[in-house]
Amino acid sequence: MKLSNRLNTINTLITESYDIIWDCCCDHGFLGMAILKRNLADKIIFVDIVPALMADLSKTLTRFSCAQTAKQWQVKCQDVGCLELTPSAKQLVIIAGVGGELLLKLVQQIIINNTNHDLSKLSFILCPVHHTYSLRKGLHKLGLGLVTEQIVLENKRFYEVLHVSFESEQPISSTGTIMWEENNTAHRMYLCQLIKHYTRMINKDPVYFQNVLNDYQQLVELKT
Ligand SMILES: C[S@@+](CC[C@H](N)C(=O)[O-])C[C@H]1O[C@@H](n2cnc3c(N)ncnc32)[C@H](O)[C@@H]1O
Repeated sequence: MKLSNRLNTINTLITESYDIIWDCCCDHGFLGMAILKRNLADKIIFVDIVPALMADLSKTLTRFSCAQTAKQWQVKCQDVGCLELTPSAKQLVIIAGVGGELLLKLVQQIIINNTNHDLSKLSFILCPVHHTYSLRKGLHKLGLGLVTEQIVLENKRFYEVLHVSFESEQPISSTGTIMWEENNTAHRMYLCQLIKHYTRMINKDPVYFQNVLNDYQQLVELKT
């Protein structure tokens, strides 16, 4: 099965092994299955809130598992916000394909619910649909730092993929830093789209959206 451009980018950002990788809001589970094939974690845990999806995924995984790989995956049907992380394990939590506001809420809940654990070995790969600016601000506020970030174009839509952790001391900027490639036409198009979008939003909350706009316009100035 061929992964979409967006899911493939997330997959390639995983360059080290983990005790546990959580494929959250996994839906069909394509991403987790690709990670399972790469043998990158002792356990891949698939999580989604829809029972029928998780029942289908369990069947598919069982069909393709041998005695060895059967121990390497688990399916949980639950709210991602209620994840119970494993204390002291090196864990990667992936959340992709949901709105930026929900995504931030889920990350906040995971952290609050697991504050008793040492979170230094925890990192997240996140790919929201829209609202990346407010997500980035929220992640920074939580004390997370940037590991890496990329812009992905899929079906004429732009996405930002962020790898963040508590160990990284590189601040997460609201508009992105290392993901912007100079002279990349698609990236310029994405920046134009963001500026047009936030210009349209100004009337809704002039003070907030003017600040957002100023931040993106500063990027344009840096690039010209
Ligand atoms: C569009 S799919 C994303 C699938 C895949 N991660 C991707 O990026 O292609 C969004 C999934 O998020 C799940 N979801 C939404 N809110 C959730 C929550 N609070 N906890 C668990 N799953 C959730 C939905 O059931 C749905 O299957």
